[in-house]
Amino acid sequence: MALDQKNIQGDIWPRLPKKSEVFLFFEITNSAKFKEKLSGFSKHLTSAHDAQQILSEISRRKANGELGPDDVIDAMAANLAFSAKGLKELGKEDLGDDVFKKGMYNDMVVEGLDREAEWHGEFKGSRGVIHGVFIIAASTEQAVQNFLIKVLNPTFKNAPDRSVKYLFAQTGVVLAHECEHFGWADGVSQPLIKGLDKPSSEKLAPPPVKPGIIIVGAEGDTANHPPWAKDGSFMVFRRLKQLVPESIQWVTESFKSQATNEKGELMIGALSCLSSRLMGRWRDGVSLEQKPHSDDAMHDEATLMKSNNFDFQDVQWQDKCPFASHIRKTRPRGDRLDENGDLDDTHAIVRRGVPYGPKTQRTETLSGISMHDRGLLFVSYQSNLRNGFRYMQKEWSNKVSYPAGKDKNYGGAQPGLDPIIGQWAEGDEQNNYANIPRLDDPRKLEKIKLERIVIAEGGEYFFTPSFSGIKELCK
Ligand code: HEM
Repeated sequence: MALDQKNIQGDIWPRLPKKSEVFLFFEITNSAKFKEKLSGFSKHLTSAHDAQQILSEISRRKANGELGPDDVIDAMAANLAFSAKGLKELGKEDLGDDVFKKGMYNDMVVEGLDREAEWHGEFKGSRGVIHGVFIIAASTEQAVQNFLIKVLNPTFKNAPDRSVKYLFAQTGVVLAHECEHFGWADGVSQPLIKGLDKPSSEKLAPPPVKPGIIIVGAEGDTANHPPWAKDGSFMVFRRLKQLVPESIQWVTESFKSQATNEKGELMIGALSCLSSRLMGRWRDGVSLEQKPHSDDAMHDEATLMKSNNFDFQDVQWQDKCPFASHIRKTRPRGDRLDENGDLDDTHAIVRRGVPYGPKTQRTETLSGISMHDRGLLFVSYQSNLRNGFRYMQKEWSNKVSYPAGKDKNYGGAQPGLDPIIGQWAEGDEQNNYANIPRLDDPRKLEKIKLERIVIAEGGEYFFTPSFSGIKELCK
């Protein structure tokens, strides 16, 4: 059956149009009043259909030259999601997802590798119980604030009808060229959803995923969810601090011996090449498969290989790109073919994160230490938390032996952890590594020790109901 785009919230698909985005976490203080107000408020929420119309308008105006690549139009968009505790407050405890019920703190700190001391108090309840989050996206932060003043506050916050307490907000701003703070284009590869996205004409694009991998109750969702949850999706919110100057220093230290020429000079192209291999993409988002040699890095790579009597044109991209690279860890393609040879995308997620904090300036980079707070407000949607985000983080990125069987390619060695988001227990020196094929001879591996350049500082699991689901919640 076709998906009803007017029933699905727009951040799940296609995404909310945004330049500035605020996540406003709240506690429900009067559930009867909240329900009463919610039914009228839902007209302010942006559906997949509405978001698609705004995005089409932006594309049309960009194509006509009316807007530049980083320009946005004045558009307001809002979505709403609830934690398991929030749904309980509204009388719904039947969302059969054990990870959701547990909450992120229990799952990722108590039973995971996030570190207790690094989680901010507000995510542990210091300001109150997180029952839900309003997601407000607009062209400017001021437009977001106006939405609060004119719509949200009079509906939920102001006396005499007060039904929520605002706990705290997290604000993100899209950076130029839609990059994340390490400087790579982000949001490039998203799984296409069957029945929603147009099939890709790109030769290398994986086939679309069944909609039920992302949307509850749709084709491919194998879990047993109650009817009211149909067309909703589980949302992961995670505050991930990025240590940018420290990451540059770590990459330089780790690869300095490989990236120094005969004159003792550091070859910047070689460093940029190796750091792109940690991510699995060039900074502009192009994959290593599409472009095995980047123009600026090619010279350095060729020089280094030549010094080893090696012709770099003979080397396949697969041999250069580490199995541990971020994108090979989080979306392994060739390693997950089912019995028909099709890609098994059970673990696919759609990512909707936004950076927070100021861009790193050159002097801050040179200083080698972060002087500003910055990172990624990571958001993903999936119909099953155990299969989606959680699987990627815990079973793939945090496991040295994933992708499995690669010790055959690596002469008995394992791929190692995801160098960007992989986690290891405090003091666990044994598992803290990634094996990276050398630039001058990819048959040899360099085992590098990882640095904690991404720090998980908190988050929560939410459920983003459909419009019909919201009606049910109001009863
Ligand atoms: C601060 C933390 C993170 C940074 C800097 C980061 C950065 C990136 C970049 C630059 C890409 C390649 C461009 C793109 O396809 O968008 C990417 C892809 C991806 N990331 Fe992350 N990411 C982070 C956290 C995470 C987390 C926590 C997960 C999930 C557990 C994740 C899952 C993915 C997936 C699934 C892809 C697409 C892979 C593909 O289809 O090729 N990322 N990330």
